[in-house]
Amino acid sequence: MKVIVYLSLLVALGFFAACGPPDRKSNQVFWDPDKDTAWQEHLAQQKNGSSVETSEGKKLFDMNCASCHFPDKDMTGPALKGARERWIENSSEENFYAFIQNSQNVIKDGDSYANELFRRWNNTVMTPHNVTKEEIDKIFDYVENFFPTVAVTS
Ligand code: HEC
Repeated sequence: MKVIVYLSLLVALGFFAACGPPDRKSNQVFWDPDKDTAWQEHLAQQKNGSSVETSEGKKLFDMNCASCHFPDKDMTGPALKGARERWIENSSEENFYAFIQNSQNVIKDGDSYANELFRRWNNTVMTPHNVTKEEIDKIFDYVENFFPTVAVTS
């Protein structure tokens, strides 16, 4: 009888040891802001005032695109993050610029990615925009470096 009590005590001890809090250091699965270089750069820019929030790309975006697009969320049109890569993969970079300047031209030319987008967005027409390739590059510099605003406590 004594042996059984002793054994079950041992089992219970082993059980508690296994269920203890995980060792955080060896078990790091969470986002670590200190190791996220893009995030650190963003914070540094925010501090010295040269952030993407004051860039020419943001101004162009606000003036021409923000009525229908967010960088990171769908609205009247799709979230713009990653759009250049989607075009390069599914169509071409040339058509990426052409679509922004005059989406209906690219759709009418029969580009399959443009037509699929148009269908998926219920045939909503993206108005033509008088922006140069350089301006589009600036807009996408802003879009790709955009982070949602969070309260910085430090
Ligand atoms: C009047 C609303 C409207 C405005 C303004 C607008 N867009 Fe769009 N955009 C759309 C819609 C809707 C789509 C989805 C495709 C379609 O319906 O033709 C789209 C699609 C796109 C796409 C393709 C996204 C993808 O996932 O491949 C890009 C890139 C884009 N817009 C960039 C821009 C840029 C840059 C501006 C500003 C210069 C802009 N748009 C202004 C409505 C708009």
